[in-house]
Amino acid sequence: MKIMVGCDHGGYELKEKLVVHLRQQGHQVEDIGAHSLDSVDYPEYAVKVGRAVAGGAVERGILVCGSGIGMCIAANRIPGVRAVQANEPYAAKMARRHNDSNVLCLGGRFLGPGLAAEVVDVWLAEAFEGGRHQKRVEMIDHCDGDAGVTGGSPFKG
Ligand code: RB5
Repeated sequence: MKIMVGCDHGGYELKEKLVVHLRQQGHQVEDIGAHSLDSVDYPEYAVKVGRAVAGGAVERGILVCGSGIGMCIAANRIPGVRAVQANEPYAAKMARRHNDSNVLCLGGRFLGPGLAAEVVDVWLAEAFEGGRHQKRVEMIDHCDGDAGVTGGSPFKG
């Protein structure tokens, strides 16, 4: 799978390990940095990865910051992104099955590399169930852009 990976200083060490793991699993990984422990601003990486996923340049995005929270908030500002913070495998599984999440956000200060690899593997392997969940995902997508802020129902297509 074609995956773009980004991190800030809080996620750098885990991101380095995950890139190795993902390549060992045969994935095509684009690592946009950060490439050191120097302090950087996580929204820059979240937006870059989010745009690549929403625009179809890559199939999935993985973002790592200290908690996974800031990356998730920032990535979800990009229309078409369904980013989730999942620091354990059950959340990762359900985020694929029911929510068709396309960006996974991890906390480098929450997770050791073994558990993080398990979370990532589950998230990449699980399929979206579609069915009743398809309509709900479409409702979320209709909230993107102007529909989410104009005061009318964002749920009309
Ligand atoms: C950086 O210290 C930290 O705030 C960041 O990595 C992330 O956890 C934000 O949500």
